[in-house]
Amino acid sequence: MANNLEILILAAGKGTRMNSDTPKVLQPLLGIPMIEHVVAKSLSLKPKKITMLIHKGLKFLEKKYPKINFIIQEPQLGTGHAVQIFTKKNNTKKNNVLVLYGDNPLIDEQDLKKVVLHLKNNHICLLGFEQKNNSSYGVIVEKNNQVESIVEYKDATEEQKKIEICNSGIMGLSSKVLSYIFDIKNNNKKKEFYLTDIVKISKKYNHLTKLIVAKNSNSALGVNDMKELSVAEKILQDSLRDKALKHGVHMKSPETVFLSKDTKFGKNVTIDPYVVIGAKVVIGNQVHIQSFSHIENAVIKNKVSIGPYARIRPGTILNDNSKVGNFVEIKNSKIDKFSKVNHLSYVGDADVGERVNIGAGTITCNYDGVKKSKTKIKKNSFIGSNTSLVAPVTIGKNSIIGAGSVITKNVNDNKLALTRAEQKEIRLSKKIKKK
Ligand code: UD1
Ligand code: CA
Repeated sequence: MANNLEILILAAGKGTRMNSDTPKVLQPLLGIPMIEHVVAKSLSLKPKKITMLIHKGLKFLEKKYPKINFIIQEPQLGTGHAVQIFTKKNNTKKNNVLVLYGDNPLIDEQDLKKVVLHLKNNHICLLGFEQKNNSSYGVIVEKNNQVESIVEYKDATEEQKKIEICNSGIMGLSSKVLSYIFDIKNNNKKKEFYLTDIVKISKKYNHLTKLIVAKNSNSALGVNDMKELSVAEKILQDSLRDKALKHGVHMKSPETVFLSKDTKFGKNVTIDPYVVIGAKVVIGNQVHIQSFSHIENAVIKNKVSIGPYARIRPGTILNDNSKVGNFVEIKNSKIDKFSKVNHLSYVGDADVGERVNIGAGTITCNYDGVKKSKTKIKKNSFIGSNTSLVAPVTIGKNSIIGAGSVITKNVNDNKLALTRAEQKEIRLSKKIKKK
């Protein structure tokens, strides 16, 4: 994009309204920290440089994003103060700066591009958005179709509070305008330095402000508290669901299905109500996921049936025509073609061959308290109900394990193995009387 463009992300705020020990910009959205959404959008604009303003508690981000320049703002005296600190410490004074807020994760890339485009010919370019019944955002005050100022909601008159074009926080500033940044003072209700005051200040210097209105108001959502975080999550989930429905995924009750950004679907997939799909899940064709199942970091091939009430954990591969039934947990295991784990089982660190039947209540005992070990079950074997397979252990092909066994040694191919104690019958000395 514009080759003299820098991006400044403001992320140093205390985030007190979150009422949480986790810093606001690290709160998860679609399973990733809110700030990652903003960073990804910043990178997509290909600016010359990205700087992030942070508080000391976020210093670890320096390692995570080696290409971003970090500046610490202590204390945090407001968004205007943040840009003052940036202007003081930044060594490239000639660039235009696009200011993004770390708590604006839904912002639309096309809107950002528009702001950058108009910044070329204007000293300030604002991104506003339409909001009926505003009760918190700064409002954009216009006169004769010219932007006069931004007034924070708390400082607005009753008349101004009715304005329906609000400030998203996204603002493009020319290098010229940045030279007035120290004119911002903190004479307002919150005694903070408001970046938004730069609009009025620039007007004094005869610089006009261009206003762009966001295509979709949802994209301007500011996430300040848990309620707004849940609204942001809902907006993103809804768009993932819409995408899946368009792709042909059948969901009777899409609002109860939770997806991830990277969920991949094949054709003719059905997802019943109340299913959660975490990150890194690839789903093939003709897969049926039944209610109350939870899947993360797994590959589900074709014609697989899962659930209801199944938990598919990271590292799992369910091959074609396999079936995982109710109250079954599978972790870091491969279940090969036509194999079934239908009821109440734990399969962890296992390699299960083709056409294996794992009976109800089978447990792979993969952890001895110190290390994890593997279980291998070769093709066509049958594991009787309530079996414990103490790993490391291998069950040969075409073998049968008798129900209730505790298998501690390898079982050869084509064998029946069982460790069950013999059943005895003992004569009763007198008839048991019911009380
Ligand atoms: C801000 C705008 C408001 C706008 C709203 C949009 C100002 C004064 N007000 O209000 O007009 O409608 O966003 O969501 O800008 N931050 C710092 N250092 C600070 C203070 C804040 O880096 O000293 C960062 C925060 O981490 C946050 C962003 O700046 O990411 C915005 O700050 P916040 O306090 O959330 O501003 P709002 O009250 O939401
Ligand atoms: Ca905010």
